[in-house]
Amino acid sequence: MESHPWREISLEVYEAHMSDEAVGQLDRLSEITAEQLQDHPSRSIGILGVAGGNGLDLIDPDTVDCVRGYDVNPDYLAACRLRYTDRFGARLMLIECSIDRALVIDPTELVIANLIIEYVGVTEFVAFAQSNAERIGVLSCVTQQNHGVGLVSATGYSAAFAGLESIASEVDPDVLASAMTAARFALVATMEYPLPNGKVLTRQDFRPVPV
Ligand SMILES: C[S@@+](CC[C@H](N)C(=O)[O-])C[C@H]1O[C@@H](n2cnc3c(N)ncnc32)[C@H](O)[C@@H]1O
Repeated sequence: MESHPWREISLEVYEAHMSDEAVGQLDRLSEITAEQLQDHPSRSIGILGVAGGNGLDLIDPDTVDCVRGYDVNPDYLAACRLRYTDRFGARLMLIECSIDRALVIDPTELVIANLIIEYVGVTEFVAFAQSNAERIGVLSCVTQQNHGVGLVSATGYSAAFAGLESIASEVDPDVLASAMTAARFALVATMEYPLPNGKVLTRQDFRPVPV
């Protein structure tokens, strides 16, 4: 696979940065994932940009047939495998890939895409969703609005994220909703979660419109 800025960031640094008090995101994202799972009880779950598996501990293994995690960084997937194989056994499938329009996923009732659209880009993400529409039950997305604070919050680890500047961009929830609507997905829920540093996380759930 080609080089990718996310492959240059160690999981240790990523998780330390996200857990920093000034960022406060790892716990918040985990709470939001709990809500996504609760709102859409599903036997098949896909996590786009699964990283080290934040939130997988919230899935009751007895209630699922498969949990698939997708990520561009093989080291993250290896850590995720170590952490969660005991919990899910063969029901955990981790897929090293680039999330783009060429990716074909297996049929999945709930697809979670938390803080990944910023790096994939709205156009490419919507093209991915459109080409997989018949295999997606609900697509629950979380994006981050920065409100004047930099995309990468200032912590002792921020320098490690400099490489992401070339690929990252803030997502406007209205732009995402319009693009998804044009791709025949209906927006079925919107929620906002303020963070301690002034940023806001926005969750938007989409369902494919039957043809
Ligand atoms: C900000 S983290 C999100 C972590 C996780 N979703 C959470 O809620 O804690 C972004 C993740 O997406 C992955 N990623 C970024 N761009 C990607 C792409 N184009 N294809 C696949 N994975 C990607 C990164 O390696 C990283 O693990």
